[in-house]
Amino acid sequence: MKSSYNLRSIAAKVVGQVLDQGQSLSALLPVHQSEVSEKDRALLQELCFGVLRVLPQLEWCIQQLMAKPLTGKQRTLHYLIMVGIYQLCHTRIPPHAALAETVEGAVALKRPQLKGLINGVLRQFQRHQEELIQREANRSSHYQHPGWLLARIQHAYPDCWQSIIEANNQRPPMWLRVNRLHHTRENYLTLLAQEGIEAFTHPEHTDAIRLASPCAVDRLPGFAQGWVTVQDASAQSCVYWLAPQDGEQILDLCAAPGGKTTHILEAAPKSHVLAVDIDETRLSRVKENLLRLQMNAEVKQGDGRYPDLWCEGRSFDRILLDAPCSATGVIRRHPDIKWLRRDSDIDELVSLQKEILDAVWPHLKAGGTLVYATCSVLPQENNQQIAHFLSRHTDAALVDTGTKTNPGIQILPHNDGGDGFFYAKLVKNGD
Ligand SMILES: C[S@@+](CC[C@H](N)C(=O)[O-])C[C@H]1O[C@@H](n2cnc3c(N)ncnc32)[C@H](O)[C@@H]1O
Repeated sequence: MKSSYNLRSIAAKVVGQVLDQGQSLSALLPVHQSEVSEKDRALLQELCFGVLRVLPQLEWCIQQLMAKPLTGKQRTLHYLIMVGIYQLCHTRIPPHAALAETVEGAVALKRPQLKGLINGVLRQFQRHQEELIQREANRSSHYQHPGWLLARIQHAYPDCWQSIIEANNQRPPMWLRVNRLHHTRENYLTLLAQEGIEAFTHPEHTDAIRLASPCAVDRLPGFAQGWVTVQDASAQSCVYWLAPQDGEQILDLCAAPGGKTTHILEAAPKSHVLAVDIDETRLSRVKENLLRLQMNAEVKQGDGRYPDLWCEGRSFDRILLDAPCSATGVIRRHPDIKWLRRDSDIDELVSLQKEILDAVWPHLKAGGTLVYATCSVLPQENNQQIAHFLSRHTDAALVDTGTKTNPGIQILPHNDGGDGFFYAKLVKNGD
């Protein structure tokens, strides 16, 4: 049966909303996925993520094929052509189907008069596909990153920037975190095998499982009952460094959507966790996650820069600060970051992180532990941030994670491994 919507036109609209209105893919996609059938949801995701992953390549190909790009009210049609080229180059969709569906997208976008133009551009691309892709690969922009970000990564990692870029351009693996309150990892692997889902363990993270290929969460045994959570392997390290204990007062600052809040409670179910985030909407996701896992935490809206407004004079045994950051370690999961972030954002983020760190430090008990984490690969937000913090706070000591001159542990994104992350563990002197 023919569907009442055109999936390619929806993908083109989503790409336009990201690029022209600065909206994030993770906020947009669920809304548009609810407009399409269950079987089309994964394809819509693949098309939107894919176009944003290789945007410079698609843009360059269009420049070679059209004298003038479509602009103004016809701009969405420009993105529709990108969706078309993406399918021809990067998916296994039969070319005739990709072409027909994409051309039909012009009707859904109320520009039926442009069907001929779109058909012409895509057919021309097909005729010259190999040569165009080869020529594009010889250009410097074929790294598929904006120039400012490429320069920062090259500067920070002169020896391995190419592997970081390569990992950023891959489709991300799907990692699970087994809820140890319900099952051991080995038990859960058996349950997955019974469902025919191939999976592997992580050599270091005791709760982590990587799926051979991503699957819908409702196929995962016991997902609704909280037996398992989708969370990247690197993000799972957090609880290892924090080492929460039953009976402790723990602050999870910048907590939404709650991936780490629930991990803390899996590790220390009898701890008291206060989860704080500035974003009320994102906090509702923390509540949903707690509900699914049948856990309790105190959830509050608040700005990390002003703890006096929300923590009622309390101090904590452990604080996890999963700071707002450039998210440059998770580009393969959020390719829109490459086009939403600006170079000038980095300095602003560094100032915000510094303000939050300084504001929350007095609320850590003497002898307490603070773990600072980001999903960034940029030194300014990571080891440099912590080195400056240590120079300002003589009562702070770095433990287990790096050295005073190069503090913290920097994890880089890795093809089959975890995302790019940074951790520093600080202990407050005194008793
Ligand atoms: C990296 S995300 C946190 C991910 C979360 N810890 C998890 O594991 O699911 C960073 C969070 O910082 C929050 N945030 C940004 N600025 C903030 C501020 N000034 N105070 C508190 N939270 C803030 C954002 O709303 C966002 O949810």
